Amino acid sequence: MNWLINTLGSSIGKKLMMAVTGFCFCGFLASHLVGNLTIYGGKDTFNAYAAHLHSLGPLITVAEIGLLFFALVHILTGAILFYQNLQARPVRYSVNKNAGGRTIGSATMPYTGFIILAFVIYHLINFHFVDKTDTTIFQLVSSAFTDPVNIAVYIVAMVAVAVHVSHGFWSLFQTIGATHLKYMPIIQVAGIVFSIVIAIGFGFIPVFISFIA
Ligand code: HEM
Repeated sequence: MNWLINTLGSSIGKKLMMAVTGFCFCGFLASHLVGNLTIYGGKDTFNAYAAHLHSLGPLITVAEIGLLFFALVHILTGAILFYQNLQARPVRYSVNKNAGGRTIGSATMPYTGFIILAFVIYHLINFHFVDKTDTTIFQLVSSAFTDPVNIAVYIVAMVAVAVHVSHGFWSLFQTIGATHLKYMPIIQVAGIVFSIVIAIGFGFIPVFISFIA
């Protein structure tokens, strides 16, 4: 645990923690999206995918513990950075100039992060920590998306995920020093494309399900 405390103590260490854990979440989001796309194949395809995941048994448990640990590190480090930024600038500017590459994504990181945390807790209560004995994953998902409030919650959350990822993706390359003038625009565009794919890919599922349910 000492290495974690030492790393969190230095500024570059904190940035690296955010970058590594953020990168892993991008990987998780991409694989979760690919898995969820099986829903377009109908209930049997989606249930078969869920059954396959569950059949991985201990591997899934290890991945879940890893995700939880990474989430705790990411949230804790993000909260410390947010607090330190506030301390470094006790008097807030009266005019918020859009200077030096400041984007909606970078300016709203703590807030979109908070929305994502609230969403993930809500999401896990609905789909993960739920009694699945007399139902199937497809039934759970399709009954959730017959409620317009749920659909709206998911769409708003996906916008927050996209805005957060659009800056996070770019920021993680900055942290590892990949700041070559030639590659930065490519990395920026790749981040925007990735976040749009995530937003539309996940965001369209509730809409699609509400039409077929
Ligand atoms: C329409 C969009 C989404 C759908 C339909 C969906 C569906 C699901 C389902 C059915 C599960 C439960 C799997 C199981 O326990 O068998 C699940 C788990 C999970 N989802 Fe989503 N998901 C969506 C978007 C998201 C997003 C955007 C995130 C992250 C920001 C996310 C994070 C998670 C996490 C962390 C788990 C727990 C994984 C595990 O413990 O194995 N999901 N999702």
